[in-house]
Amino acid sequence: MSTNKLRKLLLCISLIGLGAFSCSELDINNPLTYINDKISYEKDIKPIFANRCIDCHSGSSPAGNYNLSSILTIMGNGTDLKPNVIIGSPYSLLLMKIIIGDDNHREWIGSEENTQKLYKWIVEDSLSISEPIVHLAGPMDVDSPNFHGQDIRNKAWSMESCKLCHGTDYNGGSSEGSCNKCHDPNPEECTTCHGFGMLDNHLGAPPPDLSNNIETSFRGVGAHTIHMTEGDNSDGIECESCHIVPQNLYDDGHIFSEEPAEVVFSYLAHNLGAEPIWDTETLTCKDVYCHGNFPSGNKENAPKWTGFDPNPPSCSPACHQFPPVGKTRTGFKHSPSVSQCWYCHSNLDNKYNFIDKSTHINGIIER
Ligand code: HEC
Ligand code: HEC
Ligand code: HEC
Ligand code: HEC
Ligand code: HEC
Ligand code: HEC
Repeated sequence: MSTNKLRKLLLCISLIGLGAFSCSELDINNPLTYINDKISYEKDIKPIFANRCIDCHSGSSPAGNYNLSSILTIMGNGTDLKPNVIIGSPYSLLLMKIIIGDDNHREWIGSEENTQKLYKWIVEDSLSISEPIVHLAGPMDVDSPNFHGQDIRNKAWSMESCKLCHGTDYNGGSSEGSCNKCHDPNPEECTTCHGFGMLDNHLGAPPPDLSNNIETSFRGVGAHTIHMTEGDNSDGIECESCHIVPQNLYDDGHIFSEEPAEVVFSYLAHNLGAEPIWDTETLTCKDVYCHGNFPSGNKENAPKWTGFDPNPPSCSPACHQFPPVGKTRTGFKHSPSVSQCWYCHSNLDNKYNFIDKSTHINGIIER
């Protein structure tokens, strides 16, 4: 069904439900034409919520975890992580709740006119407000509960509501306060929320994690850096090896998914049919190709994400014995007494250093 059709249907359902209109009386191409003026938050919407909703939806534990007493909380989320109002969207939960009439919400809105106003305000009028709202003290004080970063966290990391006053390009808009003077090129840049930018590791992985921890004992930090940077045995791997990497802030599975961050292994960890597991109880990785799950490797190896050794163990016995025991992928068996690996593995020099680290733990055996 097209968005338009669904939207008309939803309106019809709502109107019939309220007994005020029948669908045939509605100009379904433009059901809202009779409300000419722009809906205003202060004049039209705030009184509806104040009279009909905030008895249940305000205070320290509002119904559905959703507070309808200020424009900033209205734009936040309730029981799930998605904001309940998405500018321009007829699917905004705030609207759906009324139109579908969950519980007694269709009655609680009071009248069909109120539903129409709410619809027009969200879908057509971009949540228009007529009086500027000035932030509570301290949007720039990192230690204040009103720090703007904290405010964004509280909104499940959505910055949609900021755009209302700070502009769709974050360049200031009606507030005349540009986000981009501090966030280059704008706050949706990955490193606004991830890592120290270029300082610790090249792509902005934690640390710090999303709670600003930097010690490797926190699961959000863990062994990110050692995976992302060059070490003795590898030149590092990319985020894609362990996560589905979003292209944009609002991509599916990114900020609107449940915590913690999803670990989704790429082909490398699955090499040779391995079925890698990120164990969220023990915080270990099991059955990962990279850590020994290959024919002659140490299949039991389960390195701990938060307990890693800054001087990683030599290859033996962590990932494979020296030389490996048992048959390799092609059925080859190393002689147990062999020690000069470089005779056959040309990527090692005679001091056991990799000549090209990018070819170790890449899924292919170089000989
Ligand atoms: C008598 C109490 C009561 C009144 C009045 C009330 N609600 Fe609710 N509302 C609830 C309860 C309880 C829930 C949580 C259960 C649910 O989701 O149905 C809820 C949930 C919601 C949600 C979903 C929140 C989320 O994110 O899960 C929205 C949106 C909502 N209400 C909007 C409104 C609006 C708009 C009004 C005023 C027209 C209103 N409510 C009036 C009790 C009320
Ligand atoms: C209703 C309008 C409105 C909304 C919504 C809004 N702001 Fe603002 N913001 C302003 C105005 C007006 C100012 C300038 C006056 C002031 O400092 O209070 C401002 C100032 C700021 C400042 C200080 C800028 C500086 O240069 O010192 C920050 C930071 C900020 N806002 C962040 C945010 C964030 C983050 C959001 C979204 C969560 C947001 N704002 C949503 C209106 C808004
Ligand atoms: C005057 C400079 C300045 C302005 C203007 C500004 N920010 Fe920030 N922002 C900062 C600083 C400083 C931090 C904290 C960095 C840190 O914690 O390391 C930050 C942090 C953030 C974070 C990350 C929060 C976290 O805890 O990781 C987000 C998201 C963000 N800002 C969005 C915005 C948005 C959206 C606007 C505009 C509405 C804005 N900022 C305006 C300086 C600014
Ligand atoms: C070797 C695998 C691996 C690589 C590579 C990796 N991550 Fe992670 N990442 C993890 C694990 C494991 C967690 C912890 C998940 C959990 O808490 O269940 C995690 C968690 C996270 C978190 C959540 C932090 C928090 O505070 O909860 C973010 C954000 C993140 N990674 C971003 C990245 C980015 C960006 C990159 C690339 C620059 C990257 N990761 C590379 C394994 C990896
Ligand atoms: C406004 C803050 C913010 C910005 C900007 C941001 N992220 Fe995230 N990112 C998060 C949060 C919050 C999570 C944890 C989501 C969860 O718990 O599932 C996350 C998780 C991740 C993860 C771990 C996998 C996952 O989705 O859970 C990766 C990888 C990642 N982000 C990469 C990026 C990239 C690449 C960009 C830039 C295109 C980016 N992020 C921009 C807040 C942000
Ligand atoms: C006589 C030649 C020879 C020597 C010496 C040798 N290897 Fe190998 N190695 C091979 C062959 C052949 C394979 C199998 C390639 C295949 O199956 O595709 C192999 C495979 C491997 C593998 C992959 C095992 C698997 O199951 O996929 C590792 C790890 C390895 N060797 C380590 C070593 C180490 C460490 C040394 C030195 C102690 C060493 N090799 C010495 C010939 C040698």
